[in-house]
Formats: sequence, structure tokens, C-alpha cells
Amino acid sequence: MSQGATGADGPLPPDEVAAGNTAQAQAWNGADGQYWVRYRENLEERYRRLTPRLMAAAGIRADSRVLDVGCGSGGTSLAAGRAAPEGSVLGVDLSRPMLAEARQQAAAAGLSHVTFAEGDAQIHRFADGAFDVVLSRFGVMFFDDPRAAFHHLARALRPGGRLAFLCWRELRENAYLTVPFAALAPYVQLPDLGAPGAPGPFSLDAADRITALLGGAGFEKVSLTALDEPMWVGTDADDAVAALTAMPMAQEMLSEVGEETGARARAALRDALAAHQGPDGVTLGCAAWLVTARRG
Ligand SMILES: C[S@@+](CC[C@H](N)C(=O)[O-])C[C@H]1O[C@@H](n2cnc3c(N)ncnc32)[C@H](O)[C@@H]1O
Repeated sequence: MSQGATGADGPLPPDEVAAGNTAQAQAWNGADGQYWVRYRENLEERYRRLTPRLMAAAGIRADSRVLDVGCGSGGTSLAAGRAAPEGSVLGVDLSRPMLAEARQQAAAAGLSHVTFAEGDAQIHRFADGAFDVVLSRFGVMFFDDPRAAFHHLARALRPGGRLAFLCWRELRENAYLTVPFAALAPYVQLPDLGAPGAPGPFSLDAADRITALLGGAGFEKVSLTALDEPMWVGTDADDAVAALTAMPMAQEMLSEVGEETGARARAALRDALAAHQGPDGVTLGCAAWLVTARRG
């Protein structure tokens, strides 16, 4: 049985989180969630070029019923709410701090038809066929059992309903990480991003895996589009260093080395990022899959 996950107000009920997703729930209720809340605006800016592509692909109508999977602080839930003024949006996420932020954002925007639920999208009790659209911006790569999760999400869609999500392509194609990693590598131990396919940001980097998972889950007309976009990471090199080194992953790397080595690592990172400074700030390339499908 799952031990649940420790949230800001105590552990999530064990039946709300699949046993295999407990570690993710802990991370997103801990340092990762706090980072994503604190840097919400910064992260929205990072995704500024990708988000409109996702929203366009989702095909939301004025009266659509939309599910936002791993909605986090609600950026795409609010966008969906604006696209479906006569419909409804449910954002589901494991992270209490991020959901609290999402609720605050929806209230401030006056979007009362955008609501949020705390839970594990892999097992959350959605009514069958309750949604016309299921979307996700980088929230579907963390499932311990993606087969079960996508099957579960297919059932939540009405027949013919649309799935649209973004996930990262291979790490080596994503300069927004390889550039910082290359700069830091001489000074710190780079993180282990897990075995191929293991839950994490790159679990769905392989096109054939996505196609097989979705086909097996009952989706049809699966389509993958490679998006290659510049990603803004800061107004200048110092701003970008501050945002990137505040990431829990970077904090962990830097905490394992002494002060002097840490300072040299930060300086190397700053130099590497300064080389990517343009008129609008520091930008690095990113590579994502835009995936669409419909429930058969
Ligand atoms: C990379 S963040 C993206 C957040 C948000 N979609 C955005 O673009 O700002 C991944 C999100 O997925 C959520 N998540 C991970 N596994 C989940 C699961 N099994 N059920 C629901 N949410 C999950 C995390 O809590 C986190 O908020």
C-alpha cells in the first residue's frame, strides 16, 4: 500500500496516489513544487512559444469540458478556461502548493468555471467520458505506469474526444539543459535523470514509445509534431543563473561541493549563458513533442 505523500497540510490519502507515484507526489509537494510556485511567471515565460501551439492543437470550443493533467500552477488551465467560456475546466495535480497557486490565479482572473482537484491523474476517479478535451503541458511524463495512466485518461474522454500534450524530446536536443550541464560538469556531479523510460522529464522522449502507449490505450489518429523553439531563460546572464541555480536539481548538485567550487561553477554557468544573450534576454533552444490523438 502507498504511504501517501507529505503535502503542506499532511499526507495525501493513500488511495489518492498510486503506490508507484508516491515519490513524485513527495517531490512535487516539496522542493519542486515550491520552485514551480516561486518561479511561476518565469516558467510561463519559458513556455511562451510552446503554450499557444498546445492550445491550438487542443481544439477547445466555447462549450468544451477540458481536463488539464498535471496542471501545476494552472497556466494552461486558465488558458483553457478563456477558450471555453461556456464550458468547464478541471485541473488535476499531485501538488498542493501548486494547486493553491492555481486556485488563486483562477479566482484573480474571475474564471469560476476553472476548478482544481488534488490527486493522481493515473487513478483519479473521473467519470467515464466526462471530458471533450484532455490536455497537458509537460505533466504526463511522471507516471509510474504510463500504460494504466493513458488508458485511464482515454476512458475519461468521450468517444472522439481529443488528447493534446507536450513532452520533452531527448535531453541532447534540449540546449536549455545541455548548455548549463556542460558548463557545470567540470565542477559538480550532474544529476542522474533515470533509466530510459523511467518517470521523469524525458520518459516520453521516444516517438515510437508514445505511439505504442497511446495506441495501446485506445487512442486513434496519433500524431507527433517536433517543436524546436528558443526558450527564454532570463533577462540577462545573472537573472538566468539565479533562476536555473534555484532549481532543486541544481541546488542539490551545488550543495555537494564546497563554496569555492560552487562559486566557480556559477561563474562558468554565467559565462556560458552570457554567450546566449540577445536583445530580449538569454535564450536557449528547446525540443518538444506536440502530441495529439483522439479517443477511438
Ligand atoms: C513539469 S510540471 C508542469 C506543470 C504545468 N503543467 C505547467 O506546465 O506549468 C509537472 C506537473 O505534473 C504533476 N504531476 C506529476 N505526476 C502527476 C500525477 N500522477 N498526477 C497528477 N499530476 C502529476 C506535478 O505535480 C507537476 O505539477
